[in-house]
Amino acid sequence: MTTLVASGKTKELYTTDDSSVLRVHYTDHTTAGDGLRNELIENKGAVNNEISSMIFTYLNENGVATHFIERVNETDQLNKKVEMIPLEVVIRNFAAGHFQKRFGTDYLQTLKEPVVEFFYKDNDLHDPIVTKSDAIGLDLIESDKLAQLEDDGLKVNQILTQLFDKMNVTLVDFKLEFGINEDGEIILADEISPDSCRLLDKDTNESLDKDVFRKEAGDMMPGYLEILNRLRAAI
Ligand code: C5P
Repeated sequence: MTTLVASGKTKELYTTDDSSVLRVHYTDHTTAGDGLRNELIENKGAVNNEISSMIFTYLNENGVATHFIERVNETDQLNKKVEMIPLEVVIRNFAAGHFQKRFGTDYLQTLKEPVVEFFYKDNDLHDPIVTKSDAIGLDLIESDKLAQLEDDGLKVNQILTQLFDKMNVTLVDFKLEFGINEDGEIILADEISPDSCRLLDKDTNESLDKDVFRKEAGDMMPGYLEILNRLRAAI
């Protein structure tokens, strides 16, 4: 018996026989512009399921506690059930996207140190950026836990920057989400894929990620498949 417990913009969560485990189904839905654009892109769910499974396995093996258990078929994976923290943690190595717009920088300006930003996950408010003080004042999270999100985010950045370097890919920026497991520990959750990262080929600076879709610059799937193939070769 399996029941749909939640449905997000791109993924569906189902119960399993084990109450501490969820089956996550990756759909082909692809969104941009705060969900205003939502299109089905064939095979995207399967490709992201495989990419995210490989990256989470790699992080598990490299000392980052995550919710990932195993990939069970083309589009589905098993994850430990967690209580999601309502914050998106964005790590940036180079200026792009909203950061570039906010500060008027050049595209890909090098940042002196990785930048860590927090966004409050609230659809009605359109996920506003929050300072650490905002997040604590609003009681979204306790301060020691917030510090852990920052540390874990920077650790993931180090591990993934090295992995993508091996693949001749620049990790420009990415978004993480965390949850609290049954033992009260913070673990990495959600997904890491070209939907949630900006990834550039190092030789050409070509986008191998969702920016192709955001900018309506053609078919994004070749870039996603390129990331999958380079990951298969690197891991
Ligand atoms: O749009 P922005 O420049 O803030 O995005 C920074 C990074 O976070 C990008 O890699 C983007 O793909 C990711 N992101 C995401 N989901 C969001 C917001 C940002 O995956 N809701």
